Amino acid sequence: MSEKKNREIDAFTGVETTGHEWDGIKELNKPLPRWWIWTFYACIVWSIGYWVVYPAWPTPDGYTKGLWNYSQRAVVTAEGEAARAAQGALRKQIEATPLGDIRKNQDLLRFAMAAGNAAFQTNCSACHGRGGQGFTGYPNLNDDDWLWGGSVEEIQKTILYGVRSEHKDTRSSAMPRYGLDKILTDSNIDDVSEYVLSLSKRSTDPKAVESGAKIFGEQCASCHGADGKGIVEQGSANLTDGIWLYGSSKTAIMESIRNGRGGQMPYWTGRIDPMTIKALAVYVHSLGGGK
Ligand code: HEC
Ligand code: HEC
Repeated sequence: MSEKKNREIDAFTGVETTGHEWDGIKELNKPLPRWWIWTFYACIVWSIGYWVVYPAWPTPDGYTKGLWNYSQRAVVTAEGEAARAAQGALRKQIEATPLGDIRKNQDLLRFAMAAGNAAFQTNCSACHGRGGQGFTGYPNLNDDDWLWGGSVEEIQKTILYGVRSEHKDTRSSAMPRYGLDKILTDSNIDDVSEYVLSLSKRSTDPKAVESGAKIFGEQCASCHGADGKGIVEQGSANLTDGIWLYGSSKTAIMESIRNGRGGQMPYWTGRIDPMTIKALAVYVHSLGGGK
């Protein structure tokens, strides 16, 4: 690098050079625009004002608080408290209102739906789907097909104590494992599966259906009802409606009979506060299939 003291005009562009030259390449004298320089100075002045009024610099025992002592955390805390105070009245009202009456009050219903939806997404959607649509083995909660009853009270009971859960008040009836425990033979299971298929008009084997019907009357009717429509106290599936928790194929039906199923739903009492469980019951009930 060499530096020339004499000013010179670059012949090619007609612009004065700064006199700096690197390997024959000369730097043209093109200062930054005035407006840019002034904006830059203005920013510096602004930042000094900012340091004075807002928290800015870390210090060994915390940070400079600034003249305004502003804190976003304090703002959020205050907003949260205000929101909770506003909800407090509604929460108390829901606690005091009998479950069945919540939906009669528009304000309570709206609040319960919002609280129920939030709690559902957090606690239930992993198993039942974000919209309550369910998956194989995890019941759909927005149709009107209920294992354990679709009234808002029954739904609340299922949520409080679960199904085959560790809670002492859990719903507990469970289907026997007809194959595993050798209660029925393979051909018995085949026949009774044909009978189950015939309940939704899908069997093509009348002989098997006839013998299956007898087995059904002896083994299954006590839980699923003589008509196969299910009994709520037993949590047994309706086998006639074409809605299947574990699949509609003969293979899936035989699997249910051979091994039982014993799906488990956790209990929530003690883990979700009573007001929110009420809201959840109202929310699930209103998903579409509430009775
Ligand atoms: C770990 C998975 C799991 C979670 C989490 C879960 N459930 Fe369930 N739930 C199940 C299963 C499995 C069943 C079916 C039990 C059976 O076979 O009877 C069920 C059944 C139900 C039923 C009864 C359906 C009927 O047809 O009678 C309701 C209502 C219900 N759940 C609501 C909820 C709510 C509300 C939550 C969240 C607070 C929740 N569940 C969380 C697995 C779960
Ligand atoms: C002690 C009561 C009980 C008896 C007896 C019983 N079941 Fe069940 N069954 C249930 C319950 C409860 C369910 C719900 C599924 C679960 O366990 O998660 C069920 C589910 C089923 C299902 C699956 C339905 C679906 O939607 O996927 C089939 C199929 C079935 N039972 C057939 C039978 C047949 C056939 C018999 C007789 C051989 C029988 N059950 C006897 C209680 C019973």
